[in-house]
Amino acid sequence: MAFLKPVSQKYHGVFQVGDVKTSNRDLLAWVEETARLCKPDRIHWCDGSREEYDALCTQLVEGGTLTRLNEEKRPGSFLAFSDPRDVARVEDRTFICSDEEIDAGPTNNWRDPRGMRETLRQLFEGCMTGRTLYVVPFSMGPLGSDIAQIGVQITDSPYVAVSMRIMTRMGDGALKALGNGDFVRCLHSVGAPLQADQDDVAWPCNPDNRYIVHFPQDKSIWSFGSGYGGNALLGKKCFALRIASAMARDEGWLAEHMLILGLESPDGKKTYVSAAFPSACGKTNLAMIIPPTGFEDWKAWTVGDDIAWIKPGADGRLYAINPEAGFFGVAPGTSMDSNPAAMACMDRNTIFTNVALTDDGDVWWEGMTDAPPAHLIDWQGQDWTPGCGRHAAHPNARFTTPASECPTIDPAWDDPKGVPISAFIFGGRLSKTFPLVFEATDWQHGVYLAATMGSEATAAAENQAAIRRDPMAMLPFCGYNMGDYWTHWLEFGSKLNNPPKIFRVNWFRKDGNGKFIWPGFGQNMRVMKWVLDRVHGSVDAVSSTFGLTPHYQDINWQGLEFTEQTFRAVMSIDNTEAKTEAEDQQSFFDRFGDHLPPEMERQRQALLKRAN
Ligand code: GTP
Ligand code: SPV
Ligand code: MN
Repeated sequence: MAFLKPVSQKYHGVFQVGDVKTSNRDLLAWVEETARLCKPDRIHWCDGSREEYDALCTQLVEGGTLTRLNEEKRPGSFLAFSDPRDVARVEDRTFICSDEEIDAGPTNNWRDPRGMRETLRQLFEGCMTGRTLYVVPFSMGPLGSDIAQIGVQITDSPYVAVSMRIMTRMGDGALKALGNGDFVRCLHSVGAPLQADQDDVAWPCNPDNRYIVHFPQDKSIWSFGSGYGGNALLGKKCFALRIASAMARDEGWLAEHMLILGLESPDGKKTYVSAAFPSACGKTNLAMIIPPTGFEDWKAWTVGDDIAWIKPGADGRLYAINPEAGFFGVAPGTSMDSNPAAMACMDRNTIFTNVALTDDGDVWWEGMTDAPPAHLIDWQGQDWTPGCGRHAAHPNARFTTPASECPTIDPAWDDPKGVPISAFIFGGRLSKTFPLVFEATDWQHGVYLAATMGSEATAAAENQAAIRRDPMAMLPFCGYNMGDYWTHWLEFGSKLNNPPKIFRVNWFRKDGNGKFIWPGFGQNMRVMKWVLDRVHGSVDAVSSTFGLTPHYQDINWQGLEFTEQTFRAVMSIDNTEAKTEAEDQQSFFDRFGDHLPPEMERQRQALLKRAN
């Protein structure tokens, strides 16, 4: 077990818990330098063991951050309520600090790296006083995989340390894989130092002073003031997308906001696809899809639900890994109907954040059951009864759960080689204009379809719903100029002999009464099967203004009442709307100036021509 010993005479009052199991000089120097700056009371090197996890969780229960849930109903599980001001990623406080502003591009918040370093130095000065500095070594991706990368997070949040053990391969294994190599420096503080006589709060944070800062050139991240999700679990969006996308550009691979799904046909043939949908648009649902009636002998296997790292293999195919080891999924709306596999993941060993607590020590959220319990403690710690007019769970309440507990986890999910990708799928939340599914005519057209993808802001007024362009679902996650990212995609595909086919889907089209036309969820398997048939060349398709579309009879309708007429409605393309769409894309493209690849404008002109 952990023991205390002075780390060095030089640090007055700084103690280290456990043995340091690395001789990596850069790491030791960085920890030392950071400790001098942040002035923690203690240093703890995380080994990633179950004992350490249990001890930290117990400490978090004693400190009031976590509530231990009913051991019979949710063994090994906990609930945290965050500060109500710290409940989601903060995009307006997220910065990219490249040397030149143009390299961050028009869709990122750029800051001059020198000025920002100075700001951060002042913020971090003494910020861990009264707290423990945790050194959290982690691997994004299976240990030893060619596609994996090592990071080390320094944090003063034990909640973050235990979450990182679920979300990544954390601890001694990662330190060993690192050896004397290079790593991504991830520095995090909740920004709430404790004075000698000051009691801690359950969820320390500094909501008025948040900074989520990326330095792609030296592969480092500084995050201050938030303990929540992507702001604080730095392996996720900060490293695996923003820093990794810049690394991927330089090294010739892809870091994407994509789920990875394996679909196994009755004859045992498995085809993997990767799909990008914006945040809260259904990646976790599709990643854990349960094939519906009519697909009896089909199996769907989950590899990842949020992020994919993709590299060309020696055989010329693309191989993808899920860099994460857990799921950080949206709880509200998740039920035995909408996602039984996710529900099964949460049976045990799960940390819930901002869901409601039941009277018998279990959890509840909107959409979990048809009838709410008669009484709850809501996510703000207050008594809640049905009809009281408040949410029981925060809409961005999340579960943090190990991928290995997922009943649909693919046997190859942990394979260092990755899984071969046969198709890319892109989809937003669009109530009109865009059909249920269409296929790009080639890679270039597919990159254009992905780049112009959009989603309606969920709260936006229905009929004038403004499209937020969210290229490749990467708008908040691309660590460099989005125009250069499109160029990277175009070049990447042009080097492949047989690039994956690219599709667009839209589960969210509505009828005249504002109702979803497509039943979605498990029924999406019908669309996925058509995608596979196209990949394997077993069906032909119909040309349209937007791309290649299915014949009604090429979709397996067994077990679903869906008439040809309704299919026409969900697939309909109106050339006036298509023209408006193409025209609307122009102002978006204009923002990129000479960083817009000419191919994008060529594709837009071609769409205009088809629409006329
Ligand atoms: P992040 O974890 O934020 O990246 O998001 P995600 O893409 O994993 O989103 P998530 O699975 O949490 O999205 C859930 C939302 O998508 C809920 O509002 C669901 O109701 C909705 N959703 C998922 N699949 C479907 C579908 O097939 N049809 C419809 N209509 N809604 C769906
Ligand atoms: C997202 O917002 O896309 C997420 C949640 O997956 S977070 O990790 O907080 O970014
Ligand atoms: Mn996400």
